[in-house]
Amino acid sequence: MRIALIGYGNVGRAFAALLKRQRRAYPFRIVGIHTARHGTAYGDGGFGPPASSVEEFLDRAKSDIVAEITTLNPATGEPALSHIRAAFARGRHVITANKGPIAHAYASLRDEASAAGVQFRFESTVMDGVPVFNMVRNNLPGVKILGFTGALNSTSKVVIEVMRQGKSMQDGIEAARRLGITEADASYDIEGWDSAAKAALLANVLMDARVTPQDVDRRGIGRLTPERVRELAGARKTVCLVSRARLSPAGIRVRVRAEVLDDTDPLAAVSGTSNLLLLHTDLMGTIGTAGINCGVDQTAYGLFSDAVDIARHAGTVQF
Ligand SMILES: NC(=O)c1ccc[n+]([C@@H]2O[C@H](COP(=O)([O-])OP(=O)(O)OC[C@H]3O[C@@H](n4cnc5c(N)ncnc54)[C@H](OP(=O)(O)O)[C@@H]3O)[C@@H](O)[C@H]2O)c1
Repeated sequence: MRIALIGYGNVGRAFAALLKRQRRAYPFRIVGIHTARHGTAYGDGGFGPPASSVEEFLDRAKSDIVAEITTLNPATGEPALSHIRAAFARGRHVITANKGPIAHAYASLRDEASAAGVQFRFESTVMDGVPVFNMVRNNLPGVKILGFTGALNSTSKVVIEVMRQGKSMQDGIEAARRLGITEADASYDIEGWDSAAKAALLANVLMDARVTPQDVDRRGIGRLTPERVRELAGARKTVCLVSRARLSPAGIRVRVRAEVLDDTDPLAAVSGTSNLLLLHTDLMGTIGTAGINCGVDQTAYGLFSDAVDIARHAGTVQF
C-alpha cells in the first residue's frame, strides 16, 4: 500500500525508518512527504519547494493511506483536523499520532471516515503505540468501557521524582526537558493540559463522551512544593497526575487531578517515561496496559500497526 506523510519530524522519520526495516514482510511504500518549512518530496525524489497546500500535495501524492504527523495544536486540533478531512475527501485512509483532532472532534471524524468508506486509526495518540484502541477493537468484543484510570503524563512524573530529592519544580522541568519529553511550553504538562487532552481523547473514543480538553475537570501539579512531596515520601506516599473517567447516572465525568497515592499503588509505581492505563469494564472487570520507557520508536510502531490493520481490512496483508 502507498503512504503519504504530512509532517516529517521526529515521529515521521522514525516511521519512515521502521517501514524501510519491515518492507520485506510488509510492502508499504512512501509516495510523498509534505512539511511546513522543509519542502515537499514526491516518489523517490528529494525535497523540493513545498506544495502550495495540503490539498495540492494529496492530489499529487496518490496514496492509499495518509499519515498525519504534524505538530500538536492542543487548543483547537488545527490544521491537522483539516488535513485529515482533506484526506477523507479524497477517499484515503488516515493514520495519525496527533492528539489534537481526536481530543477535539473524534465523533465527527469517525462518522466522516465511515461516510467516505475509509479507515481512521490513531493508536499512537496515547501511550506511544502501546495497544489501547486496537486491543479494545480487536480483543474485547462486546465489552463496554465504564471508565478508566491512567498515569499518562511523563513530565509530571519526572518533576515529582526530582522534587522528592528536595529539588525545585523548575529543576524537575529542566530534568524532563533534558530527556526531550517536555512540550515547548512546560505549563501544558504541569497544569494538566496534556493529561486532559489524553483523557478527553480516551473518553471520546472508548466511551463516546464527546468532550474537549477544555471540558475536563482539571487541576495540575503547579502548586505542589518540594516540602509537601518530601513529607509524603516520609509516609511512603507520592503524588501522581491521574486522568480518570467514569460513567455516572449524570453522564460521563472526566477529570485530571494530582492525587496522593501509596508508593505501592500501581499508578505510583510507573515512573519516568513509563505509562499505565487501567480500563474499567463490564465483562472483563479492570484490565490494564502499560508501556515501560516508551519513546519515538514506539510511537512509530503504533502508526505501523495502524497501517497493517488497514491493509489487513483491505485484504492486502494476510496473517
Ligand atoms: N515525539 C513523540 O514521541 C510523540 C509521541 C506521541 C505523539 N506525538 C505526536 O506526533 C506528532 C508529531 O510529533 P513530532 O515529535 O514528530 O513533531 P516535530 O518533530 O515537531 O515534527 C512536526 C512535523 O510536522 C510538520 N508540520 C508542522 N505544521 C505543518 C503544516 N501545517 N503542514 C505540513 N507540515 C507541518 C513540520 O514541518 P517542518 O519540518 O518543515 O517544520 C515537521 O516536519 C505530534 O502531533 C505529536 O504530538 C509525538
